[in-house]
Amino acid sequence: MDTTHLSKFYKKSHTEKIDSLFLAGVISKKEKDSLMSQSLELDVETGNNMIENYICNYSLPMGVALNYVIDKEELVIPMAIEEPSVIAASSFAAKIIGSGGGFKTTVSQRQMIGQVTLKNVDDIHAAVKNVEEAEQAIVERANEAYPSIVKRGGGARSVSVRILEDDTDSGIPTFLSVHVHIDTQEAMGANIVNTMMEGIAPYIEELTGGKALLRILTNYATECLATATCEIPVHKLKTGEFSGEEVRDRIIEATQVATIDPYRAVTHNKGIMNGVDAVIVATGNDWRAIEAGVHAYASRSGQYRSLTKWSKNDKGDLVGELTLPLPIGTVGGSISIHPAAKLAHAILNHPKAHKLERIIVSVGLAQNFAAVRALVTEGIQKGHMGLHARSLAISAGAKGDHVQQVADILKKSKHKNLQRAKNILLNLLDEFDR
Ligand code: MEV
Repeated sequence: MDTTHLSKFYKKSHTEKIDSLFLAGVISKKEKDSLMSQSLELDVETGNNMIENYICNYSLPMGVALNYVIDKEELVIPMAIEEPSVIAASSFAAKIIGSGGGFKTTVSQRQMIGQVTLKNVDDIHAAVKNVEEAEQAIVERANEAYPSIVKRGGGARSVSVRILEDDTDSGIPTFLSVHVHIDTQEAMGANIVNTMMEGIAPYIEELTGGKALLRILTNYATECLATATCEIPVHKLKTGEFSGEEVRDRIIEATQVATIDPYRAVTHNKGIMNGVDAVIVATGNDWRAIEAGVHAYASRSGQYRSLTKWSKNDKGDLVGELTLPLPIGTVGGSISIHPAAKLAHAILNHPKAHKLERIIVSVGLAQNFAAVRALVTEGIQKGHMGLHARSLAISAGAKGDHVQQVADILKKSKHKNLQRAKNILLNLLDEFDR
């Protein structure tokens, strides 16, 4: 990638942006042409085949975050999101983090978990023993239920059992949950796992003497974790009247607050998910699954807490770390159907699932750094207002050059609301007519 073509990207026109991505080697000529002709919309036939009762497309803007260096590789990251400032904040954070060497990542094994949950198991301990002894047979039967994943090098690997006992004192009976740990290769794997669970359920009933109530994957993908870390030179944190040391310490303190206060933790983690979801959506992955799993992971200690950790190292530099469960896929679902999702994978140079996990967790860490840094220094509104003013200008009916003109006046106004934007636009149009 030749990033020289990407400098001052935000200042380029829409056409120049697309052209510079092509010149930088991020997209091919064909992808450039489809972007230029705006032919990335879902067509009616595809929409009809994707969901029931399809009537139209609901569009989200897709942009690219720049300056990312992940495991020494420069990357341009596609993000689909309606919220202003997220992509700018992401690129800004990636640049500062890049000055300290960028992101370093690790990933765990990539295994999804399927659950067969049983009720009416009379002898729980005998059932657990029977399942444990039959592990190999369960794995074989699960693989027989979905042979193509075995051909692709994946498949069921092991089995574990959990006794689910009432911890609420509300008279809930005991259930038994049989977990099958499955390598789904490049797929997120919901269909693979669910087919396997339905396939093995009768055998699990035989082994346990219980009745299968639920046969489905868990979105709590604790065996599909990705971690990103970064080190930011303290002098790079200096801003306005704040020294680098002050900003560093305030980021650490803000994260301590999010570690002990669930009210703050939810917002802190929402900032992480601004980046994560934007890449998940752009790459055609299931953001509901990721959201559900991530928030459960944030509660793994029994209390909902910050997902990031910020500390300082011996040199006094700021050190960040984020671990997330990221059961994403690079094949299946809408990934190979949706034209914009296909483009997003192309922009990332068609990463394998492990690599996409590394990218997404890095974006989450960058997004958290950007948000918390802004919060503990100049506040979040200053950065937000620029793009918010543009959104208000568009809502007020401004077109073309008027969007920026209305936004510029609005930013200096005491009241930054839709009515004010409408009044500014009317004044501009009046002047124009005179
Ligand atoms: C806004 O979308 C995200 C933030 O609220 C995140 C945070 O508070 O850390 C700014």
